[in-house]
Amino acid sequence: MDDLREKYVSLIAAAADETTLEDLRVQAVGKKGEISLQMRSLGKMSAEERQLAGPKLNALKDEINSALAAKKTALGDAALDERLRGEWLDVTLPARQRAMGSIHPISQVTEEVTAILADLGFSVAEGPQIESDWYNFDALNIPGHHPARAEMDTFYTHRAEGDERPPHVLRTHTSPVQIRHMEAHGAPCRIICPGRVYRADYDQTHTPMFNQVEGLAIDKDISMANLKWTLEEFFTAFFGTNVKTRFRASHFPFTEPSAEVDIQCQWKDGSVVVGEGDDWLEVLGSGMVHPKVLQAGGIDPAEWQGFAFGMGIDRMAMLKYGIPDLRAFFDSDLRWLRHYGFASLDQPNLAAGL
Ligand code: DAH
Repeated sequence: MDDLREKYVSLIAAAADETTLEDLRVQAVGKKGEISLQMRSLGKMSAEERQLAGPKLNALKDEINSALAAKKTALGDAALDERLRGEWLDVTLPARQRAMGSIHPISQVTEEVTAILADLGFSVAEGPQIESDWYNFDALNIPGHHPARAEMDTFYTHRAEGDERPPHVLRTHTSPVQIRHMEAHGAPCRIICPGRVYRADYDQTHTPMFNQVEGLAIDKDISMANLKWTLEEFFTAFFGTNVKTRFRASHFPFTEPSAEVDIQCQWKDGSVVVGEGDDWLEVLGSGMVHPKVLQAGGIDPAEWQGFAFGMGIDRMAMLKYGIPDLRAFFDSDLRWLRHYGFASLDQPNLAAGL
């Protein structure tokens, strides 16, 4: 028994892993284990012999069992320690660099314009980019023979042969959203409609797709004075400085009277600075909504009146952020996007300044 004890105590102490330990358990106290066989031989002993050997054998069995259990716990602890050492994570290490996208200046400026005009009570309305010619032209008091149609370099969609209906167009301005909104929501209203517009024109200052924002305010006593105040508030907030405006009498089929609006600027070393000097830069068209346009939108012009304006977003972005070439806006050149783009978490809001 002493030999058995010595043998197993030292083998258990030396076991390096749980499989070895399990083998030892089977070998010692398993069904056919050495100690178990000894226990079985108790039956063949005389009563006195058994009295002596029984308790000793039991004690040996207990001792080996607890040595096995203790070793098992120790092996488990060691394995856990090993894992903790191996999987240790240094949370103070700097994070890996990740490629980050940026917000396109057009998106940024659209958000800025929206934030400013939302603060003045305007909400955002949208319309389709493929428009019927009625919404894009007729409803806006631009009949078929009107020169404005020809001037707009319109993209027409294709009709199947024999289909005599006028083809849809890629909207040439955001003004059709005025009509859609009036039809759906009536008066009074105060909305802006930012979005893409299309004209078949491509040179230094024109791209076939560009962005506009339309404004429309209808109520019982709206006047040109409200238009002027709204636009001056807008420019001052947008450029972050007092900007003088100049209203020039003009003509649009959908407004009467109509005005083109210039903002004060100065040319310095070939680039333009807004809000100082005594040059002027045209930035938008505007006026009092034509009675026929109100009518087309289902609103009674004897009861309601309103102002409207249409502004080029791309132009505003170029002016505010000193971007020289319009065409680069839509080239998807990553270097340009990284240079002129905005951080995605740095979204415009009035409280922080735009
Ligand atoms: N739709 C015009 C354009 O694309 C811009 C415009 C002028 C819009 C006068 C208006 C407006 O709402 O009143 O050139």
